[in-house]
Amino acid sequence: PRILLLGPPGAGKGTQSSNIAGEFGVEHITTGDALRANKDMDISDMDTEYDTPREYMEQGELVPDAVVNAIVEEALTSADGFVLDGYPRNLEQAEELEGMTDLDVILSLDVSKEELVDRLTGRRVCDDCGANYHVEFSQPEQEGVCDECGGELIQRDDDTEEAVRNRLDVFEDNTAPVIGHYSDHAGFVEIDGEQTPDEVWTDVRAAIEEQA
Ligand code: AP5
Ligand code: ZN
Repeated sequence: PRILLLGPPGAGKGTQSSNIAGEFGVEHITTGDALRANKDMDISDMDTEYDTPREYMEQGELVPDAVVNAIVEEALTSADGFVLDGYPRNLEQAEELEGMTDLDVILSLDVSKEELVDRLTGRRVCDDCGANYHVEFSQPEQEGVCDECGGELIQRDDDTEEAVRNRLDVFEDNTAPVIGHYSDHAGFVEIDGEQTPDEVWTDVRAAIEEQA
């Protein structure tokens, strides 16, 4: 199936996308990971304010549409089924996506703002494989060490309190309207993202099985 996963920063999109990719054998397309892997690429020829994605990301601002649209377009050409995570983030990107593919399932993870701040400021990620942890909600077996690969767990540059607040504002202004836009689309399902990761996964899986 072709799945779109929407939700604010920290809603659990990355966590649930990994589950979806594993269970349904679809490709995980994530603009956030793609941009983090290419933070220092030169985008100055695209008439942007900054020369690389890094400056936008560290402040929690959106990277210019032309850059992200190209990433998604390229990823979609080789994907049959997919779960798309982190895109579209504004109505212009949503319009762009409509020209690229149809969607079978659109999931929206709903989580309150206070919970999002706790999740993001407590998140730790593996510097080697990108696996996600949380200092309270999802601890590794050994503190600071990745269960999957033994890599070092670090805090993302944009998980500081200040960047998190800005990301949540950017979400309200730009991305909340995207969720409104999709809410009457066929296959749209709202999921309570404030349950435990396993409970959220149960609901996500059921919604996909029902819609796809
Ligand atoms: P991106 O990487 O997409 O970040 P995000 O949307 O802010 O989302 P996160 O990765 O922070 O959170 P998530 O929803 O995946 O939650 P997670 O599963 O990790 O984007 C980063 C930046 O890139 C943007 O700010 C922007 O600059 C740029 N960018 C990306 N896409 C763009 C686009 N389309 N256009 C323009 N710019 C773009 O979970 C979070 C934490 O909570 C983890 O610690 C996890 O363990 C924990 N957790 C997860 N689920 C639960 C649960 N149910 N209960 C308790 N804890 C939980
Ligand atoms: Zn790792």
